[in-house]
Amino acid sequence: MNDRKPILIIGGTRGTGLLIAKILDRQGRPVRVLARDPIRAAERLGSTVQVVAGDLTKEDSLPPALDAIAHIIFTAGCRSGRPFREVKIKATEYHGVLHVLAAAQRSDFSGRFLYMTSSGVMTRSFWTFCLNTYKGNTLKWRRRAEDKIRASGLDYTIIRTGVLLNRAGGQRALKVTPDPLPLSPRYRIARADVAEAFVAALDHPRTTRTSFEIVWSRGNRRETWPVLFERLTPDPGPLSPAV
Ligand SMILES: NC(=O)c1ccc[n+]([C@@H]2O[C@H](COP(=O)([O-])OP(=O)(O)OC[C@H]3O[C@@H](n4cnc5c(N)ncnc54)[C@H](OP(=O)(O)O)[C@@H]3O)[C@@H](O)[C@H]2O)c1
Repeated sequence: MNDRKPILIIGGTRGTGLLIAKILDRQGRPVRVLARDPIRAAERLGSTVQVVAGDLTKEDSLPPALDAIAHIIFTAGCRSGRPFREVKIKATEYHGVLHVLAAAQRSDFSGRFLYMTSSGVMTRSFWTFCLNTYKGNTLKWRRRAEDKIRASGLDYTIIRTGVLLNRAGGQRALKVTPDPLPLSPRYRIARADVAEAFVAALDHPRTTRTSFEIVWSRGNRRETWPVLFERLTPDPGPLSPAV
């Protein structure tokens, strides 16, 4: 039944989210994309993808997009490779996530919230410092957003990725690990591979209530996403209250 409800992609108008929308659409699955500019989005996505107007930073604009959906894939963020002030990062990458979680909790949503974020949220390095300085403490707000997702009571999958490249997917070996990786140019991955990972995670029971990192590894692709996901285990739940 859930299969015929659309999968909502927030961030589906460009980058990795757009690639995810195109894969799901090719598979014949119903896709809905939230867009600040619906006309431009419809041109990119084609007529089989439903486009609904909305802006993450405007909570009241979200309910139409969340009406009767199967799952939410959230890849939105302040545009990659550009500098932003902290006030904008916080509004988009922290409050934006909170707005979507709240809208999902208020609706009859019973699917999964899949969230794309960055390596480096759990660790400190020279590159973490550089990115946070250039882009308004993005990793600090993304870490807080993760905590809110895990505490939301919704089913979720949190996927942290290495530095994103516009390269063909399916070429390089992959590493999937629950261990936090540092942000570093050593850890990279193609947007096309990340898009595949989200689609595979959507259907894989081992990815529910998990937080993990994905990056390229050495050599050619050997294992499929479903095989790599087999090793995942759910995040530890909240600690029981002391007696
Ligand atoms: N660059 C990296 O190396 C790297 C590494 C790890 C993770 N990430 C994160 O991974 C995600 C995907 O990155 P990407 O480079 O593939 O995508 P991207 O090109 O940065 O696209 C960001 C998406 O977020 C949407 N968006 C931004 N603000 C919004 C708002 N207020 N309301 C609704 N939608 C909004 C954009 O919509 P518009 O079309 O309206 O602008 C766009 O669809 C991003 O969150 C990024 O920060 C990046």
